[in-house]
Amino acid sequence: MAATPFGIDFGGTGIKGAPVDLDSGDFARERERIPTPRPATPAAVAEVFVDLLARFPDCDGPVGVTVPGIVRHGVVHSAANIDPSWIGTDADALFTEATGREVHVVNDADAAGLAEVRYGAARGRSGLVVLTTLGTGIGSALVHDGVLVPNSELGHLELDGHVAEQRAANSAREREDLSMEEWAGRLTAFYRHLERLFSPDLIVVGGGVSKRADEFLPLLDVDVEVVPAALRNKAGVVGAALHATG
Ligand code: BGC
Repeated sequence: MAATPFGIDFGGTGIKGAPVDLDSGDFARERERIPTPRPATPAAVAEVFVDLLARFPDCDGPVGVTVPGIVRHGVVHSAANIDPSWIGTDADALFTEATGREVHVVNDADAAGLAEVRYGAARGRSGLVVLTTLGTGIGSALVHDGVLVPNSELGHLELDGHVAEQRAANSAREREDLSMEEWAGRLTAFYRHLERLFSPDLIVVGGGVSKRADEFLPLLDVDVEVVPAALRNKAGVVGAALHATG
């Protein structure tokens, strides 16, 4: 039997990890959390991963890690909301070397997309599913008939002359103290743009604010079906573990 994979979600304030049961899509053991070091350089984050994995001494499966940036063949290529020293870092190699484990890095939204399609809000859905995470930035995942097209970066589309995530991420709502109606107006423009570009069959809305989905999803004026993510704050860890086995 294949070893249970381990997922790590590298976020702005916390680094969370747990072994994941791929049959249920849930944690196989209670997850652990360590505060994100400041600055969150690749070397400092690697040390946290070593500590985190040491808390699960009997778990020896492959390790998946989310990173909030473009990841191609294990190398990080963008750092819109993280320390700039990540750009050009071969994160697969760095973390594999630091932990002595087989580590595979994946974009954070792509991980959430994989998890939602396999176990969550888009489970069993065919056609094109677009997941967006509304947080500090806007992350995106494009999944067609269960197959991920990685690094879509739709939060960096232009919206009203700005980078979309700077206008429509949850951080923009908080920073500008927008009402839900005002924010929903910006989200409508963003999602209408996605509708025109991709004709998705379903849009899944993730990120921490998705727990308040009933306050803003009904205010969106779009044609496509839009649903809240189901896995909530487990999606990163579960998706990272899925990626590790992919
Ligand atoms: C990054 C994406 C990331 C998203 C959510 C964006 O600024 O460019 O790679 O998925 O934030 O963290």
